[in-house]
Amino acid sequence: MSGRRFTRSQQRRRPLTLTAPELHLDQMSLAERLSLLSDEERRTVITDDDLLRISFDADFWCRPSQLEAVNSDAWITAVVAGRGFGKNFATSYWVKKKAQAYPGTRIALVARTVADVRDTMIQGPSGILSVYGPDEAPEYVPSLRKIVWPNGSMAMTFSSIEPSQLRGPSFHYIAVDELASWRHVADDSGATSWDHVKIGARLGRKPQIFVATTPKRHKVIRDLFSLAREEPDRVKLVGGSTLENATLSEDYVRNLLEMYGGTALEAQEIFGKLVLVVEDALWRERDIRRLPPPATGMLKLVGVDPGIKTAGDATGIIVVAGTLEEDLMQRQMWVLEDFTDEENLGTSPERWAARAVQAAVKHGTPDHPAIVVAEKNQGGEMVRTVIKQSPGGEKVPVVLIHASVDKATRAEPILMAYRRHRAWHAEGVNLEMLEDEMTSWEKKSGWSPNRMDAMVHAAGPLLVDDKPLRQVGELRVETVDPNLIVVSSWRKQY
Ligand SMILES: Nc1ncnc2c1ncn2[C@@H]1O[C@H](COP(=O)(O)OP(=O)(O)OP(=O)(O)O)[C@@H](O)[C@H]1O
Ligand SMILES: [Mg+2]
Repeated sequence: MSGRRFTRSQQRRRPLTLTAPELHLDQMSLAERLSLLSDEERRTVITDDDLLRISFDADFWCRPSQLEAVNSDAWITAVVAGRGFGKNFATSYWVKKKAQAYPGTRIALVARTVADVRDTMIQGPSGILSVYGPDEAPEYVPSLRKIVWPNGSMAMTFSSIEPSQLRGPSFHYIAVDELASWRHVADDSGATSWDHVKIGARLGRKPQIFVATTPKRHKVIRDLFSLAREEPDRVKLVGGSTLENATLSEDYVRNLLEMYGGTALEAQEIFGKLVLVVEDALWRERDIRRLPPPATGMLKLVGVDPGIKTAGDATGIIVVAGTLEEDLMQRQMWVLEDFTDEENLGTSPERWAARAVQAAVKHGTPDHPAIVVAEKNQGGEMVRTVIKQSPGGEKVPVVLIHASVDKATRAEPILMAYRRHRAWHAEGVNLEMLEDEMTSWEKKSGWSPNRMDAMVHAAGPLLVDDKPLRQVGELRVETVDPNLIVVSSWRKQY
């Protein structure tokens, strides 16, 4: 038996909270139910040989809710469930089942990035390779981005960021991971990876798509819910909660509860429910409007919220541009781009500094980059130093700000500017992740809205600071034209 088996004592330790449902036998997998028996009792139900034979089968390992998805014959089956529910686990068994059922099956595996497909869908703790016994595993050939089964079935890997790669090839089956976190970028035909997935599953008599995701309020997820309502025979949703998975560690569940417990996102992240409005979030969707930014006369700032304290905290990097009317109340701001490094969930300062510099150069020129406005609460002067030391960073003007009031208080005047039609999001730019934070974060949330913070840092000097015109922190902006900002300072170093 694999080490995945859990014991009775583990089950007793399960930190069921007040909101958690009691686990019932009919929610457990066969493996879980058998593990509640003594060896002697178990042998009266199933022999050791039989156990060995089924010990890598979906029917043995998957809980009934997972099996419902694995055995579904709908065109799209979507496991829309809480964190750690076992979405990848179910996906892996679905892929295994499909690859084995028909020799020569062609499967596509699609996740947000190339690394996500490789490290989560294939090689992760519940990835495809983990659901095979030592002698039966298919061969994974990373250089060819392929998994090959002895019966001639194969799976190819794709990332949501490169939709054009999905244009053309056709498959019997497509497995999709974390659809809600995909970057929905369009290729030159205007189609996104999700569009290509829906037409790419077209081989054989019954092509199918398997989606595993937590339900964020993104358009693609809402569309999926509408489709499931309109065409329940073709699109099947399988829900489920984190707390159903008794194999998760106490620490993992405790951390999740600390982050989301008692907030609106608890329903989304733990119970897998689509939360349409977070009542206590600062922004409502209607507060965020899109408009093309003016082409000239804008001062560009790159807001940086360094993720220094917690591992896994991203560094928010958001580029904004502001008009420069004398009257503060006349000034307007546009969010131009989200430069947050999605791969960099670690806190390597070199990496986020390099990205901040890239953003500043892209939105200015190598000689006159845009101004970086960064919070220094956690990193102090180090924040300036890493940016300056980054390649091309010596010319980047850096303004460090110290956040002395809490996030919500800092964000409040920016929110008012949005409501008074002084702040816009650039049309046609994907700012979904930032918008998601703005409309999800509540004061009591236990997670950090890094993108929202970065936007607020950069928006402050444009929309709130009643400083003389063209002064950002300690910097004076001498010239502003579409491509050129000259910055000086009465301090020697900036
Ligand atoms: N039925 C099961 N039996 C035994 N272990 C399981 C089962 N379902 C999931 N697990 C284990 O629980 C852990 C979480 O599962 P998995 O990674 O599939 O969850 P997920 O829903 O994809 O999580 P995330 O929200 O982080 O993407 C993994 O270690 C996995 O092997
Ligand atoms: Mg997963």
